[in-house]
Amino acid sequence: MRTYGYTDTLPAEHYARALRADIREGLTRTPKTTEPKWFYDGRGSELFEQITQLPEYPVWRAELGLLLLHAAEIATRTGARSLVELGSGSSTKSKLILEALGPNGLHYVPVDVSADALHQAGAQLVQDYPGIALHALRADFTVPLALPELPDEEPRLFAFLGSTLGNFRRPVRGPFLRALRGIMRPEDFLLIGADLVKPEPEMIAAYDDSQEVTAEFDRHLLRILNRELDADFDTDAFDHLSVWNSAEQHIEMRLRSRVEQRVKIRGLDLAVRFEDGEDWITESSAKFTTDGLQAELAAAGLRTDRLWADTDAGFALILATAH
Ligand code: SAH
Ligand code: TRP
Repeated sequence: MRTYGYTDTLPAEHYARALRADIREGLTRTPKTTEPKWFYDGRGSELFEQITQLPEYPVWRAELGLLLLHAAEIATRTGARSLVELGSGSSTKSKLILEALGPNGLHYVPVDVSADALHQAGAQLVQDYPGIALHALRADFTVPLALPELPDEEPRLFAFLGSTLGNFRRPVRGPFLRALRGIMRPEDFLLIGADLVKPEPEMIAAYDDSQEVTAEFDRHLLRILNRELDADFDTDAFDHLSVWNSAEQHIEMRLRSRVEQRVKIRGLDLAVRFEDGEDWITESSAKFTTDGLQAELAAAGLRTDRLWADTDAGFALILATAH
């Protein structure tokens, strides 16, 4: 059995084209707003791993705790022999699900934009679980996914953890969930992890920690743009902050220009002006209510089968069915 397959559905020019289009559009609108998927090169994924360990970011540990408690039940309820995971990153939490499902002969499809994260996680997984059938897929899950061939007989479990769903804005979540439902068969399941609304200071601190790791993660975007688009961003010329937008029910990570400045992005043949104190929204992270999330899932044809919540940390895990 071939145990390690890797498919890159993002040819270099597609990635570069999408980056150029998003940055051009995002930095010429008001307020300046760009997509969150550009953070994750090797160093970006590494910084994200550090974020998950911060005391101010309990989200990651809460989800891990819920999976520790309920992975066995997830396995028995679904009977899945394939796991497709969107935004798999390091696949650390996925291991709990893989082990509960039984990794021998299990088809695991980690999907991520980060080739580095896929390669690192993949190498570790085949070492830990020699019997696993791994098909890593480098893809952008905001565009329709082409899945590798999977066994037809058993249900498939799709997983979307880490509250990554929250990084979509409300108006695009509906179409995203419907498209995901579209590649699922009626007998399939979706496991989704979502961060819940909680007191504002806690939500803000989760994206602005005292060790400034999140600030470093945010400013890392500038380095990526300097490298990929031959820009001349000065990382010291921007402050990082986190803001609760109550109308949108999301946290915004922002870079605030410390001075009035003009930045040249040669790769786009563009000069971008920043006012002194002007904000650039680099990521938004929605916070959910369990009722609200279930309604969003239902509107996409996904019915809640089980819901587990960690009310202290404010995190919920929902197992939904496509039937
Ligand atoms: N699920 C992991 C990682 C969460 S971080 C965990 O909970 O720890 C979000 C992950 O999604 C990153 O690995 C990032 O590379 C990936 N990602 C972000 N936007 C993406 C997109 N549009 N398509 C595919 N992967 C994406
Ligand atoms: N999707 C998660 C969230 O929004 C993880 C995440 C992405 C994150 N970027 C982040 C967490 C930056 C902290 C800081 O919470």
